[in-house]
Amino acid sequence: MSLKEKLDPGKIPQHVAIIMDGNGRWAKGKGKFRIFGHQNGVSTVKTITEAAAEMGIKYLTLYAFSTENWSRPALEVRALMELLVDTMRKELPTLMKNKIRLSFIGNMNDLPEKCQKQIKVTMEETKDNNRMDLVLALSYSAKWDLVQAVKNISQDVHVGKINQDQINDKLIDSYLSTNWMPHPELLIRTSGEKRISNFLLWEIAYSELYFTEKLWPDFTKEDLYHAVYDFQNRERRFGKTSEQLSS
Ligand code: IPE
Ligand code: IPE
Ligand code: MG
Repeated sequence: MSLKEKLDPGKIPQHVAIIMDGNGRWAKGKGKFRIFGHQNGVSTVKTITEAAAEMGIKYLTLYAFSTENWSRPALEVRALMELLVDTMRKELPTLMKNKIRLSFIGNMNDLPEKCQKQIKVTMEETKDNNRMDLVLALSYSAKWDLVQAVKNISQDVHVGKINQDQINDKLIDSYLSTNWMPHPELLIRTSGEKRISNFLLWEIAYSELYFTEKLWPDFTKEDLYHAVYDFQNRERRFGKTSEQLSS
């Protein structure tokens, strides 16, 4: 039986988030420039998006560029932005064919004009697709999102739209840029690093974490099945005891 067949169709996570890491090391290992790794990383994005949609995952959030990544060499940042614009343009027919809606979380104002324009076009074109949501975290960091949420909450308290007693976990959820999707049940990070790097801090409070040594350009459909299989065999207790869950 293949790994894909072993998956329980009733326990597919609704939302999977991935920290796509290791492009630079992958390229370096081949004696190439880092951007070669990013280009090959795009092929993995295509493969994994397709596999996720086939599996019935509803939301796939990919960490593509963090707030901190702005401090990389200007040449790499520029190449990444160009790669993004090119990919959105080239892949639009595939998104339409596979009925995938593309959206973004992050500080879009910091992106180059060209990139912002292409984002608007692609979001508009794909807005009625409903097989899966592909969400790119771009110029994103969880702390940025929390800061904007706190600012907006305090503003709404100030103008009397909400009162302080209404601030609870649900309300905070509703001010985050991820407010329209469920929290991810599974978070995957490639490349062997075991850290979160400022991704979805609030939303992963109870996510299952899966780390793999595979570098992102080498990550395959089979690796995704493996992560989901691993997830399906964990006991999610949410603070309860194992006995409580089985009774
Ligand atoms: C992840 O790969 C892609 C981005 C952060 C844009 P890296 O570029 O971080 O690759 P490594 O970690 O240096 O190998
Ligand atoms: C995290 O990867 C950000 C993305 C995958 C976009 P980094 O490679 O930037 O993370 P650190 O700096 O090694 O933690
Ligand atoms: Mg990295």
